[in-house]
Amino acid sequence: MRLRIAAVLASLAHLAQAQFSRFTPPDDSTVTYSVNVPSLTSSSGSGAIFFQVKAPASGKQWVALGIGSGMVGAHIFVIYTDGTGNVTVSARTGTGHVEPEYNPDAKVTLLEGSGIVGNNLIANVRCDNCIDLAGLDITSKASSWVWAIKNGDGLDSSSPSAEIIQHDTMGVFAYDLTKATGGNSANPFVASNSPSSSSTRAAGTSGGATPTGSSAPSSSPTSSSDSSDDDDTGSGSVSIGFDFSVIPKWQKTHAILMGTAFAVLFPLGAIILRVLPSGQKVHLHMIIQGSAFIIAIAGLGYGVMLGKNLQLLHETHAIIGMVVMGGMFFQPILGLIHHWLFKVKGKRTILAFIHANWGRALMILGIINGGLGLELANNTHNGKIAYSVVAGVMGAAWFAASAFYYIRGGSQQNPPPKRRDSAE
Ligand code: HEM
Ligand code: HEM
Ligand SMILES: *[C@@H]1O[C@H](CO)[C@@H](O)[C@H](O)[C@H]1NC(C)=O
Repeated sequence: MRLRIAAVLASLAHLAQAQFSRFTPPDDSTVTYSVNVPSLTSSSGSGAIFFQVKAPASGKQWVALGIGSGMVGAHIFVIYTDGTGNVTVSARTGTGHVEPEYNPDAKVTLLEGSGIVGNNLIANVRCDNCIDLAGLDITSKASSWVWAIKNGDGLDSSSPSAEIIQHDTMGVFAYDLTKATGGNSANPFVASNSPSSSSTRAAGTSGGATPTGSSAPSSSPTSSSDSSDDDDTGSGSVSIGFDFSVIPKWQKTHAILMGTAFAVLFPLGAIILRVLPSGQKVHLHMIIQGSAFIIAIAGLGYGVMLGKNLQLLHETHAIIGMVVMGGMFFQPILGLIHHWLFKVKGKRTILAFIHANWGRALMILGIINGGLGLELANNTHNGKIAYSVVAGVMGAAWFAASAFYYIRGGSQQNPPPKRRDSAE
């Protein structure tokens, strides 16, 4: 119960306070991009959003933020000095890997607090039609945005269609827009300019002790500009934007780890058990399967990170993968207990049957799942063929080894062994 009250209070406070999602490019930590989705926009699904571009006062020719996952089709806002101590916000549309075209349809307004402020170049911007224009999904936990920076002397142009030259650095990243939602300020980036109302408000939002105080802001979200609803100091909770440039590395790592474990090592560990003469084969099996499992656990980590950040955890591939990995936890335990019982009793128990067949089912599912992963990630034709060949050859060898073993009489094939575990 207490937890529920706390949760309700927290969500009310969340509604009342401006929240920002922030992103700093990994290649240039001097620049920060922030967004805020006001509560009213969030609840009605349409309306204004705010963003801020902050950069050093000098050394930047232009700095841009855009909604989209690449240049083509992105709605880009380029910020540059206007030559009079303020900044120009230039809305453009990306058409390809060329200079984005000026887009007069974007309703962007430069707000108070913008300009060359101290050592910073700041653009506080309200966009009234970005949601419609860019088809922006403000409920997205991984909304794709782009950034780009051109170093050099300030452009000093007040024209929103000024010519710009190609960026030095750029990239794609994701905002968790649910964490950018909150507040109803007309300008969330400046400190309150009506301290009296903000202090009464603060009692409700900061402590969270008085539910009535907390809910008050939501009753007057429509009231306009600078009177009652600029309760924010710009200190709302901050979520750090996610840098998408690591994704290809994660995909590759995930694919290599999982492919090695499921298409190569697990089958190899099973084959060894069936083709090697008795002796150390069970230990070899244990070592190979154990190593494969550890490698797969590392691969699982990358898979989960990919799934979370690309919103793909509900995909068949990720679900099968998690089921397979969950099921795998029993294998070493079953294997070891079986092996131990075999040594003690001198004969196979039902555990051998369970371990072998559970293991087979999981391995087969895992091998197939690798194919689904390549499909999901749109891997190349050659990539898919390479995986099919490796998995096919290993799978066929495994099947043949196992079949051959049983045809020869399985564990009953040999006269009583010298080493007691030799025929298990
Ligand atoms: C994740 C780890 C493991 C996996 C995926 C796995 C998988 C398998 C599979 C698929 C088989 C049947 C081979 C066939 O297809 O003919 C098998 C058999 C066997 N495994 Fe494992 N295994 C694992 C770990 C272990 C461990 C730690 C031991 C401990 C010694 C062990 C001991 C055995 C033994 C003794 C057999 C032979 C059972 C029989 O004669 O039917 N396994 N394992
Ligand atoms: C049986 C275990 C698994 C195998 C063999 C496997 C294998 C693969 C392979 C080969 C790819 C293609 C990567 C690429 O082409 O770049 C892939 C992609 C992917 N895997 Fe797995 N995987 C397994 C388990 C998992 C699990 C447990 C998760 C998440 C919980 C997961 C999440 C993903 C995601 C999200 C992608 C797609 C990435 C993208 O679309 O860019 N995988 N997997
Ligand atoms: C820049 O322009 C905006 C919008 O007109 C204004 O609110 C702001 O005060 C200006 N900044 C400076 C430093 O003049």
